[in-house]
Amino acid sequence: MVRFENVGMRYGAGPEVLRDVTFVLEAGSFTFLTGLSGAGKTTLLKLITVAERPSRGLITLFGHDLATVRRKTLPALRRRVGVVFQDFRLLDHLSAFDNVALPLRIAGGQPADYALDVDELLSWVGLGDRLGAKPPTLSGGEQQRVAIARAVVAKPDLLIADEPTGNVDAEIGARLIRLFAELNRLGTTVVIATHDRSLMENTRSREMRLVDGRLVELRVRT
Ligand SMILES: Nc1ncnc2c1ncn2[C@@H]1O[C@H](COP(=O)(O)OP(=O)(O)O)[C@@H](O)[C@H]1O
Ligand SMILES: [Mg+2]
Repeated sequence: MVRFENVGMRYGAGPEVLRDVTFVLEAGSFTFLTGLSGAGKTTLLKLITVAERPSRGLITLFGHDLATVRRKTLPALRRRVGVVFQDFRLLDHLSAFDNVALPLRIAGGQPADYALDVDELLSWVGLGDRLGAKPPTLSGGEQQRVAIARAVVAKPDLLIADEPTGNVDAEIGARLIRLFAELNRLGTTVVIATHDRSLMENTRSREMRLVDGRLVELRVRT
């Protein structure tokens, strides 16, 4: 699904933020990307979502070499990836419902076809009574859950989440991890960046740990 070979990344003329990063994400896998703040987690995720380009090395996404893939192929690859951004990136003028429905609308879906799914998903993340609320009126944790619902609503092949439980209490955090595990069970490949290692308890997962830009530990919990 995703392959990195000796990937290095620097911003501008700055120091290398990622160094010689090599790994494979198999289809159907569930991976925690851990590391302290500043270790390079967000940068690595941005390379997977083609929001940034590597300074060196090879990245393959769904079998396409990102260095040579044609520009017009990129949107189709990106549509297969659901992303939960660290800063949510919700549209403030749209309701929670409309934010979550947006990927389906863009894909040409009709409200009559997706309304129930969107309702159900928002209820599942505990926002069933906030469907009409606009993001500025929601708490940070509520906005985060809207962002998660939006990332998963179109059933992406690959789900990338950057600190998705950073603004919620432990109970809701555990619930969100269960949602990700359920999606994984249904076939979605999941990568979650977190600095909270307690999230990994009770989840069958692999851990990839970044220390100073290097992938230093690979662990499988079964
Ligand atoms: N757009 C950017 N321009 C310059 N430096 C950046 C940029 N984004 C991140 N960095 C630097 O890259 C390093 C890794 O950051 P990041 O990938 O955000 O780490 P993490 O998500 O693990 O906290 C940090 O030293 C950070 O300051
Ligand atoms: Mg980060």
